Amino acid sequence: MIENTLENLDQLRSDFHRPQYHFLPPSNWMNDPNGLIQWNGIYHLFFQYNPYGPLWGNMSWGHAISDDLIHWKHLPLALEPTQGGPDEAGCFSGCAVDDHGVPTILYTSTSGDRNEIQTQSIATSQDNLITWTKHPSNPVLVDVPPELNQTIDFRDPFVWNEGHTWFMVLGSRIKDIGGAVLLYRSHDLIEWEYLNPLLVGDDKRHDHTWECPNFFKIRNKWVLIISTNTGSMAETVLYFVGNYENFRFTPEFQGVMDYGSLYAPLSFVDDKDRRILFGWLREARSEVDQRLAGWSGAQSIPRVLGLDEQNRLIMQPVVELERIRGAHHAIDSTSVSGEIELDVRSLHLDVVAEFAVEPGGYCGFSFACSTDRNEQIGIIYDSKTSRLRVSKTYPEAYGSLTTHIREVDHPLSSDETLKLRILLDGSVAEVIANERTSLTSRFYPSDPNHNHVLLHGVNAKLETLDIWEMPSIW
Ligand code: FRU
Repeated sequence: MIENTLENLDQLRSDFHRPQYHFLPPSNWMNDPNGLIQWNGIYHLFFQYNPYGPLWGNMSWGHAISDDLIHWKHLPLALEPTQGGPDEAGCFSGCAVDDHGVPTILYTSTSGDRNEIQTQSIATSQDNLITWTKHPSNPVLVDVPPELNQTIDFRDPFVWNEGHTWFMVLGSRIKDIGGAVLLYRSHDLIEWEYLNPLLVGDDKRHDHTWECPNFFKIRNKWVLIISTNTGSMAETVLYFVGNYENFRFTPEFQGVMDYGSLYAPLSFVDDKDRRILFGWLREARSEVDQRLAGWSGAQSIPRVLGLDEQNRLIMQPVVELERIRGAHHAIDSTSVSGEIELDVRSLHLDVVAEFAVEPGGYCGFSFACSTDRNEQIGIIYDSKTSRLRVSKTYPEAYGSLTTHIREVDHPLSSDETLKLRILLDGSVAEVIANERTSLTSRFYPSDPNHNHVLLHGVNAKLETLDIWEMPSIW
């Protein structure tokens, strides 16, 4: 097994907000997953990283490897800005491909005071993806197609191969129209031919830059995932499912990949033929608090993607996570009426629950709960409204309590039970309902002993409940 190499273990162990089984670098700022690839059986996770501080800046590519997608070893930086180069302001997001045996990164190189000059560059490795050489002809793609009305947003290459041809999508925006994904092709990853927009946003909600596109096939359908930079936390990661013919994508179904803190996800296919996605779990606390903590951002537990019979995107955390599960608590099938405190106390849990909820009933959990139950994160399904709610209550300055509520539609068909998967980890709560509604949250308990777990329900039957305490991967 690959061993970890955390230097400041003690300091980090005492920070109870730090996730223990989610990936994050030893310190400082991390955002998007980048360059996901499996090479000679080893998984490589690159990520947007600021080596010099806990806030966004000096964009470089951090690097870690794993042989099971759960335990990680930190490696030296893979890419950092080169003074005087096209990436002197930053090495932004991108992907990695196998170019006939040569590991090759495609990334967005930025220059200018505000990263306003965005071009695409490549780098290759001769030593098993450890060190990277930037290509002498960088940037390999400079010109934004003229019909985009001089947008400056032109980034995050996602590349795949069909026969002898490489295809690439880039995130962009057409001024006064909306977000756009642009389609290119190449024979050598160096010379790129612009084909056409793959998809352009057509309503107000889409009038923002589309970042970090992913475009891939599942069975006979194509899926496009985009992150819409709206500046708010709401419904920012969208997906479209449809048909792709003659370089045109026709969506038939549109959904939300995550309703909460997960952003800029990136996917790849591994040697078990799984389409696996990682997403950046953004902080939901102030810059001051991020600075004090000395770190910011975590990666989601990788999720395996699929489509259900209605062509909705479905996702499950990789099964590898199950192998590290610790102490197990199970509750027999029972009807729930009111609130029951469970005999589990932890901020690091993997929860699998199934409920049959009668019309008018509700059910769910509270985690990170204080003894007086004032402070908690509630995850409740209400069958009256068919909505799933995550509410976080915690003290603000001067002791007053505030509640933040995020509520989303989650209709169940008449023969469907509510299935919840909850990955709780320090300050992370990944919540996935029936494999299709994902509402990831960040929460910050004021005390590590605020770790009680409550079960709630009215007119609800708990079919199964399994809770595992989760260890540290470090
Ligand atoms: C998404 C994003 C990308 C960009 C990167 C910069 O979070 O804005 O579009 O490449 O972050 O760090």
